[in-house]
Amino acid sequence: MTVYLNGEFLPLAEAKISPLDRGFLFGDGVYEVIPVYSRRPFRLDEHLARLQNTLDGIRLANPLSPEGWRAVLARLVAEAESDDQSVLLQVTRGADSKRDHAFPRGVPPTVFAFSSPLVTPGEVVRAAGISAISVPDPRWKRCDLKVISLLANVLARQQAVDAGCVETILLRDGLLSEGAASNIFVVHDGVLLAPPKDWRMLPGVTYDVVLELAARHGMPYQVRDIAESEVRSADELWMTSSTKEVLPIVTLDGQPVGSGRPGPAAAQMYAWYAAFRDEVMRKADD
Ligand code: PDD
Repeated sequence: MTVYLNGEFLPLAEAKISPLDRGFLFGDGVYEVIPVYSRRPFRLDEHLARLQNTLDGIRLANPLSPEGWRAVLARLVAEAESDDQSVLLQVTRGADSKRDHAFPRGVPPTVFAFSSPLVTPGEVVRAAGISAISVPDPRWKRCDLKVISLLANVLARQQAVDAGCVETILLRDGLLSEGAASNIFVVHDGVLLAPPKDWRMLPGVTYDVVLELAARHGMPYQVRDIAESEVRSADELWMTSSTKEVLPIVTLDGQPVGSGRPGPAAAQMYAWYAAFRDEVMRKADD
């Protein structure tokens, strides 16, 4: 497998970084995960804009221009085996000669990217829906940044796996924030509810697509704080992300969500999402 590391394309086995890398020592870095369908990146501009926003948020200069990132992506995507891929971009604050929390001076960032096969949930999983648990959100107050310090997300997601579930819904001060690795939508009395994009959640690229599609097709929606009680009494709950697309959650903490089966709004949104994705991919051919 070919990966990109600090300006070079090389086999994964030859890609080496220093143990003093600040990503390793402090989790001091940022990342993006970009879905690629039929070898074409989906919503690349939006992912690169969020990467820039996260870099600005941690005061790290972007090592590449948008064209530079596009070129890295193009080569990785061309060399990978599968047509549908998930591309990881990662930038850390580099490796200094000592361990000091404060920013190092004159140290180049570490820039890494690689592609792996994209495996989205299949028809069977979407038809069955998935189970989730909920926990109090233990994270910091910059959850809008896509940083690699993901220990709280890792522990939350493992709690789901330990409970035989797929995702963990994070609740903060009685309000819905998001999932351990996804955004969460609620359907209540025919209205799609989405939490606002503030410090409590990652501004998902899929989240934006879902709201755009709701607007385009006339599905009523509201972006506002969502109370835990509304999550627990939802007719439908969905998780969304670049790799899971739009996936219905059918049980929460062992209780059925609505009817306990995937709801009609989720099926509708997934159909719009798939059609939109295919439309965008076709346009990329022109
Ligand atoms: N995770 N919230 C969190 C905490 C996430 O980690 C993710 C995505 C999302 C959804 O964002 P998007 O729709 O842009 O993928 C929301 C990625 C897939 C990951 O960490 O692998």
